[in-house]
Amino acid sequence: MADTDGNIDSHDYYLDTPQTDTPLPLKGCNSLDWGMKNRLANIFDPKTGRTVMLAVDHGYFMGPTTGLERIDVTINPLLQYANTLMCTRGILRSTIPPTFNKGVVLRASGGPSILKEISDERIAVDMEDALRLNVAAVAVQVFIGGEFETTSVHNMTRLVDAGNRYGMPVLGVTAVGKQMARDAKYMRLATRMCAELGCTYVKTYYVEKDFDTVAAACPVPIVIAGGKKQPEIDALTMAYNAIQQGAAGVDMGRNIFQSDAPAAMIQAVSRVVHEDMVPKEAFEYYETLKNAK
Ligand code: 5RP
Repeated sequence: MADTDGNIDSHDYYLDTPQTDTPLPLKGCNSLDWGMKNRLANIFDPKTGRTVMLAVDHGYFMGPTTGLERIDVTINPLLQYANTLMCTRGILRSTIPPTFNKGVVLRASGGPSILKEISDERIAVDMEDALRLNVAAVAVQVFIGGEFETTSVHNMTRLVDAGNRYGMPVLGVTAVGKQMARDAKYMRLATRMCAELGCTYVKTYYVEKDFDTVAAACPVPIVIAGGKKQPEIDALTMAYNAIQQGAAGVDMGRNIFQSDAPAAMIQAVSRVVHEDMVPKEAFEYYETLKNAK
């Protein structure tokens, strides 16, 4: 019990100071409950409202992808530069140090490998295990227009229900089948469906034309996947364009861990995302870090 001896009987209620109420700088997120917002603040930097998610979950259907053969060797040294790590529970438990104290976005759908029809996924993580792992969000793949479209949407809505029960954000990951047009019309459809059906935020691909309409039509934050490895200047340009057109960050994998200099690349991406650094400058920064050895 607190010692009350010598307690000073004077109080200051700051009567002239209205109570501050700090909103979360994320669109469409201010009606969420405190726990959900607190988790989002572990994914998106509260100062910029943006995030650099480092995506290393590719093994859940692709096996040991180039650059991810030994996550302990290649990825753990990059964790310090990311806002968030996106991975599977297998990698989290086996390889990621428990001292990592930023948000983890947990891959929560899966099933088929690259050898099969990949849209035939199921929910692959129980919400109880996500809570046990203390993650900041769960991620589910949604295959709009894919063979198992309805199953994947149903996976998403079930995770949204479970997430709402426990204050766990759900990231809807829009997956584009090989035969589908990767254009703004498709991305507007897929991202808007994820948001309407309850996702807290949505991951999509950047499209060259009219990406701003994709971001505008999605009422919750959008982050872009990096996609296949490109030259560093092109990946930085893509990240810059996406941010300038309304994305709240990147969820980038191969363009970071398959770069010639992954640590330099993630730091350059971070400056594009959080500081609006233009691609040319960011590329020079990348080169400087890369050569400083
Ligand atoms: C795998 C994923 C990846 O997290 C996503 O594609 C981001 O990685 P990359 O930047 O390499 O595309 O969802 O299915």
